Amino acid sequence: MSERDLSGRIALVTGGSRGIGRAICRRLARAGAWVAINHSASDEAAAETLAGIEADGGAGGVYKADVSSFEATDAMFRRIEADRGPVDLLVTNAGIASFQDDVDMPVDLWRRILAVNLDGTFHCVWRARAGMLARGDGRIVCISSINGLAPTTMRSDRLIAYGTSKSAIIGFSRNCAVAFGPAIRVNCVAPGLVDTDMTSGMSEEMRARIVASTPAGRTGTPDDIAELTYFLLSDAASFITGQTCVASGGLVTLP
Ligand SMILES: NC(=O)c1ccc[n+]([C@@H]2O[C@H](COP(=O)([O-])OP(=O)(O)OC[C@H]3O[C@@H](n4cnc5c(N)ncnc54)[C@H](OP(=O)(O)O)[C@@H]3O)[C@@H](O)[C@H]2O)c1
Repeated sequence: MSERDLSGRIALVTGGSRGIGRAICRRLARAGAWVAINHSASDEAAAETLAGIEADGGAGGVYKADVSSFEATDAMFRRIEADRGPVDLLVTNAGIASFQDDVDMPVDLWRRILAVNLDGTFHCVWRARAGMLARGDGRIVCISSINGLAPTTMRSDRLIAYGTSKSAIIGFSRNCAVAFGPAIRVNCVAPGLVDTDMTSGMSEEMRARIVASTPAGRTGTPDDIAELTYFLLSDAASFITGQTCVASGGLVTLP
């Protein structure tokens, strides 16, 4: 069996109905994992992700839950465990952002962005952790953002909440890697600009400006991020934990 084979593994990808999460679901299923596709609203999109997995010859199921609620997250894990067994590959990808250029950021919006992006990550990792530790094996990838490493050049108060949530995810995953090793490896992926529903509202001018500053000369695709996530979850990355891996076409580089 190859070190990149995920046969027999049970994966959970939060926010798997669309965009980057969908590409991750499909990549993990092509590697042999059984994939639980989480989402909170778009039933049709989640069903399309599952249909894509099945068309590729893979298998999985759809699990609707708002990860900002620990109770809903716990109930989702219980359903997955009853249907299939414990989760041993976790990708915390569900996220929201607000890209409006206006300066106002209502307090409720700050709370919602932190609740979905940061609390949602914490809830899933916390729920998965005990079983992974007991089994002595688990791999986790938390999806952060280059906005978690460096502030965006976009002047928007609303991106303060997003950037803060993504920085906190990096700190959280580093601490988890230390606390849960060697049984569990925990890494972060920090994507640059990827064309998805999340970024579809961005102005063409802003998009062109970002591409012009990107050494790779293009925006990312969901598959770019899925490939890196898959690598980090596989045994090929067995010596990599506590890291933040940037996939931004060179727009952001780490020292
Ligand atoms: N696109 C980029 O340029 C970019 C760059 C850096 C980082 N990222 C990060 O990558 C991740 C995915 O982004 P994307 O661009 O693929 O976004 P997207 O296309 O907007 O998809 C977001 C996904 O998250 C799910 N979701 C939202 N709120 C949820 C909740 N409370 N509970 C469970 N699922 C929830 C959505 O499903 P429902 O609508 O059905 O709930 C959807 O599947 C996010 O964490 C984002 O911050 C994106």
